[in-house]
Amino acid sequence: MAIADVSAKPIAELVSLAGRVAVVTGGAQGLGHAMVNRLAEAGAAVLIIDLRAEQAAAAAAQVASATGSRVMSAAIDVTDEAAVSAVADLAVAELGSLDIWVNNAGLYPNVPLLNVTIEDWDKVMTVNLRGVFIGAREAARRMIDAGQGGVIVNVVSTAGFRGVAPGVTSYVTSKHGVRGMIKQMALELAPHDIRVLGVAPTFCTTEGNMAALAELPDRVREEIAATLSSRLGRVGVPDDIARAVLFAASDMSLFMTGSTLLVDAGETI
Ligand SMILES: NC(=O)c1ccc[n+]([C@@H]2O[C@H](COP(=O)([O-])OP(=O)(O)OC[C@H]3O[C@@H](n4cnc5c(N)ncnc54)[C@H](O)[C@@H]3O)[C@@H](O)[C@H]2O)c1
Repeated sequence: MAIADVSAKPIAELVSLAGRVAVVTGGAQGLGHAMVNRLAEAGAAVLIIDLRAEQAAAAAAQVASATGSRVMSAAIDVTDEAAVSAVADLAVAELGSLDIWVNNAGLYPNVPLLNVTIEDWDKVMTVNLRGVFIGAREAARRMIDAGQGGVIVNVVSTAGFRGVAPGVTSYVTSKHGVRGMIKQMALELAPHDIRVLGVAPTFCTTEGNMAALAELPDRVREEIAATLSSRLGRVGVPDDIARAVLFAASDMSLFMTGSTLLVDAGETI
């Protein structure tokens, strides 16, 4: 197979996801919710995976009513292999195909290096690496079965490019790992017209990180703020990242695979 040459297509058609089906993990709140919103606005039917059942169902109903697209939710854990496999089947059975899979769910606990327990370490690796691996593999299996190609987008972080702040050794390690996974999966899936891309946000205000920051001592909060400053005059909001995910998921990025797009307001310059 070879990826299509879309030079003659109008821009509106390249951005459109009409007729496509997307799964977004961790879509009940934060960055994931904004991604669900943009993908649905572009015409995709979307299935939200999240641990938070009520919040995911409410997000699905809100986006469906705002965009007119079909949006469903499934309350499962991304680290549960059997559940993720069943939800991938559900997307195909209920929504008609599986064209886009966004691995967004992730944990970013702040624990000083010397206090990190093996349990802390394993928890982050299980969600941020195993969860991404399971989602990507299950998506790729369905996409290969259908023979229509597809896109897998993994949400990384500027923490996948450098150390960012005190207290996030396991997080930084996991996000560097996701970048490696993206490269290797892109190699192995390219023959099936499946593209694998990363989107790496800088700090954006979300329910999750506001709650996490509130628990930290002032000194640590200040150190984090110093390393994550935006050069564009304001702090990031979830839609800043969602627009980049839409680009990655759409035919606008059709000639890209294996790379991770920094959406960092100049943080890593
Ligand atoms: N917010 C930021 O500043 C920022 C910056 C860089 C990268 N990121 C990355 O973006 C992603 C989303 O971040 P956020 O700030 O929106 O997070 P958040 O905590 O606000 O939301 C994450 C969502 O994922 C869900 N989730 C967590 N673990 C899950 C699991 N095991 N199974 C299913 N669902 C699960 C949660 O219930 C929640 O709804 C993460 O991968 C994070 O590392 C965020």
